[in-house]
Amino acid sequence: MFEKEIESAVASFRTLLTEQLEREEKMENATAARDFSRADRIVVGVCGGDGIGPIIMNEARRLLAHLLRDELSSGRIVLREIEGLTLENRQKLGVAVPADTLSAIKECDVLLKGPTTTPKGGSLESANVTLRRELDLFANVRPVTVPEEGIDWIFFRENTEGEYVLGSRGVEIPGKLAMDFKVTTTAGTKRIARAAFEYAKNNGKTNVAIVTKANIMKKTDGNFSAICHEVAEEYPGIEAEDWYIDIMTANLVNPDIRSRFQIFLLPNLYGDIITDEAAQIQGGVGTAGSANLGDRYAMFEAIHGSAPRMIEEGIGDYANPSSLFRAAEMMLRHIAMTDKAEKLAKALTVCTETEKKVTVTGNRDGATAREFTDYLIETLDRTDL
Ligand code: IPM
Ligand code: MG
Repeated sequence: MFEKEIESAVASFRTLLTEQLEREEKMENATAARDFSRADRIVVGVCGGDGIGPIIMNEARRLLAHLLRDELSSGRIVLREIEGLTLENRQKLGVAVPADTLSAIKECDVLLKGPTTTPKGGSLESANVTLRRELDLFANVRPVTVPEEGIDWIFFRENTEGEYVLGSRGVEIPGKLAMDFKVTTTAGTKRIARAAFEYAKNNGKTNVAIVTKANIMKKTDGNFSAICHEVAEEYPGIEAEDWYIDIMTANLVNPDIRSRFQIFLLPNLYGDIITDEAAQIQGGVGTAGSANLGDRYAMFEAIHGSAPRMIEEGIGDYANPSSLFRAAEMMLRHIAMTDKAEKLAKALTVCTETEKKVTVTGNRDGATAREFTDYLIETLDRTDL
């Protein structure tokens, strides 16, 4: 029964195993990350994406033009428009990221990207997932803070493996069963663990929570946890704690204990889910930035999606650009423009937390993305900042 289907599934499983082994071996020979403080020209690719993406990206462009006016006019920083990453174009060509778009992105040093829509079902892979894989952006770093509650979290989500790497390559016996694959490699886990522990060491943090479901996903999560603990041994002053993802999601909504967590280290899918929860605690998914870091490339983006519903309802102009602005702040830090990043961070705190003269609600009762950006730019120019 189903002999032919089983044969063909086994054959594709063999291919997957071979490919994943090759990927693991390549990772072992990674190069050292770049030092941007010495670069005399940094090319920032800018790409709007779909849905509310182009609307909030227009505002990010205005913000960067203001903040980096000297660097842009001297040519030290170049903002380069990246074309072709729209859903329309991707569907027309039947690819997640068109080849010419990918090579244009690879010619940039870093990328600031708006959200891209992924159709549910079908076989078109997510542009995000493809870019993370193609650019080998293994660390998805997402800070979340609620200063009045003492919450200062940073999430290190593994970004190239887990359920995502083969998410479009599962097997199916139609009408009977479907199977997807989850992958944890040793090199892939070591590098994300190292990123988290290095961050802890360099930023005076004392605790890393390793979050898995290793009691159930014994191989993949079991290895993830064990490898993270091995890496932890290289960092004697930093405590490595084991948590399961289910109780950790509960912990985050428990005000009595949540502020004790500092750094979270997680496989891909749990990291995806819990960072939306964390962003919501901070004030909404429209408020948190996200950095996708690799050794060669880096991509910065909002943590939310393209909000097609807002476009359908005609309220796209009311989208909150803050998440993308937080991503821009992370990008500035990454390219060693720390002063500019600090200035932007302060202005964002004034505009979204302490002063809030203009508030975006995501609806007609709030300000538009443009009005909010005007307010932010005015705030940046204030001398008391
Ligand atoms: C995120 C998003 C993406 C993800 C989607 C858009 C593929 O939810 O960046 O968290 O699942 O990683
Ligand atoms: Mg997500």
